[in-house]
Amino acid sequence: MCGIVGYIGTKDSLPILLEGLRRQEYRGYDSTGIALLSEGKLVIKKKAGKLAEMEALWKSNGVSATIGIGHTRWATHGEPTDVNAHPHVDCSGEIAVIHNGIIENFAAIKKVLLSTGHTFASETDTEVLAHFIEEFNKKTGSLEQAVRLALSEVEGTYGLVVMSTREPDKLVVARKGSPLVIGYGEGENIVAADAAALIQHTRKVSYLEDGEVAVVTKDSVTIKTLDDVEINKSVEEITFELEQIERGGYAHFMLKEIHEQPETIHNAMRGRLSAEQGTVKLGGLLPVMDKLLNARRIILIGCGTSWHAGLVGEYMLEQIAKIPTEVEYASEFRYRNPIITKDDVVFLISQSGETADTLAALREAKAKGATVVGIVNSVGSTIARETMAGVYIHAGPEIGVASTKAFTSQLTVLALITILLARAKGMSAKDSAVLTRELATLPSKVAKVLENVSMIKKLAREFKDTKNFLYLGRGANFPVALEGALKLKEISYAHAEGYPAAEMKHGPIALIDENMPVVCVAPKDAIYDKVMSNIQEVRTRKGRIIALANEDDHEIDALAEFVLRVPRTYGFFGPIVNIIPLQLLAYYIAVERGTDVDQPRNLAKSVTVE
Ligand code: AGP
Repeated sequence: MCGIVGYIGTKDSLPILLEGLRRQEYRGYDSTGIALLSEGKLVIKKKAGKLAEMEALWKSNGVSATIGIGHTRWATHGEPTDVNAHPHVDCSGEIAVIHNGIIENFAAIKKVLLSTGHTFASETDTEVLAHFIEEFNKKTGSLEQAVRLALSEVEGTYGLVVMSTREPDKLVVARKGSPLVIGYGEGENIVAADAAALIQHTRKVSYLEDGEVAVVTKDSVTIKTLDDVEINKSVEEITFELEQIERGGYAHFMLKEIHEQPETIHNAMRGRLSAEQGTVKLGGLLPVMDKLLNARRIILIGCGTSWHAGLVGEYMLEQIAKIPTEVEYASEFRYRNPIITKDDVVFLISQSGETADTLAALREAKAKGATVVGIVNSVGSTIARETMAGVYIHAGPEIGVASTKAFTSQLTVLALITILLARAKGMSAKDSAVLTRELATLPSKVAKVLENVSMIKKLAREFKDTKNFLYLGRGANFPVALEGALKLKEISYAHAEGYPAAEMKHGPIALIDENMPVVCVAPKDAIYDKVMSNIQEVRTRKGRIIALANEDDHEIDALAEFVLRVPRTYGFFGPIVNIIPLQLLAYYIAVERGTDVDQPRNLAKSVTVE
């Protein structure tokens, strides 16, 4: 997810572009850049790091222009470096492009362009677009046509703004899968990834739809389809206030990120999963595939939510890929002088890629000869750079301190890795296709859970003042209980403990009385009956049972005071769906308690201290 902004009008565009990027920094912030079209030439300054560092490059250099484009990046292809920052240009240096999204077939296009003599400066998919447009621009002499023809051969997603010295009176913009909004001014027009960048200039906007291309001049906006059919787009009025827009209209970033999960789970699989063929492609693991296939054991290491993801991953890898797997707290592993051999493969799971304990565990495992692999969200982060290989989870920036979408994307990537290894170790195409087809259904199943939060809001009102909660689960849903409890703890400040359901009778059952809500994760799986007997034990002690159960399970109605419903999913992938109601429960209880949901007390988004 990146921030993009373009201006064309009569004012000095630089301050407008800088402000527009500032308003979108939450969308991505690992590198930034601006291109101005001044006196017939492109002037580009771009840099890894925060916006302020790129802004400083423009100080006192006297360049002014009434047309320009700007970008703040969340890296997906190519580390966050000066060279990989946007804007990107073609060979002639006349066409500049900024892009939000993923071009899935960029490698194939790049190969053809290289064979025709194009040279590339960066590792990004976006730069390929600039050269691809250049090719069509040579043939058609029209920037608009060139953009349209290039995009008709592109697979993937884009929110795109293109500028050319040959046609200095226009911006060409296009959208597929990534947002792009056009703001209408007086003698000026502004485009951006979201309205936050426009609102101080205009509240009159049009939102491009997928497959639409617009030519934007200072006095006109012409919108067409990819196949050149003009569209009359309605002009809407922005009603949100700025800070609401940055949160996409949600009250908190955490709620926005919870609701992003159908898309982020899909993005974790995008270009990697062929549901029907039953195949998984993870190019990032190619350097270590032989190590993975011959591993004596796999060790999954992380902290907090990432450690919980590892606990689910253990079930997947052992039960499906039949690889001995262990899970370790990074902070414990690093100080225990662990017995590690060269036949061990250690996965470091981390959203931020900067967690000090996880980084130290990486270095400890590497020093002892293990193969170290990353499962990371932040591209180019320290853990991503120090591992020998890895898989990015593509969840986009996670702003809320309580991790939600990163967790489900970590689980999705662990499922992909599991299927890849199981298939390579002999699983049949038929069995693999069953799993890949199930994975492909998860975004819609998660979306279904998100559609109806009324029961969750009722529970939040019921238990907003409760001080202690128990969360129980078995098997791959035991980590779901732990994660649900952690979410509640860290944003509502209530005390909540996750336990294997069977463990309750070894002590915690003493806590049960009519004041103790007990969240029981009870999908219809192989151990459902065991969980049901644990629920009976809670019930006989008057505990207040909140069951998380499948939609078609009405046996549980007789035992539970409240039931949260989830669609059925294949056992080891179930946690990806089952965690959603527990994320929402924690969120709404915290809202009822009036805590700072996005920045809870005492916490930091990335724990870079030991
Ligand atoms: C999760 O909600 C917490 N914010 C925290 O436990 C987090 O998961 C942990 O600090 C690990 O962070 P990482 O994934 O960035 O390494």
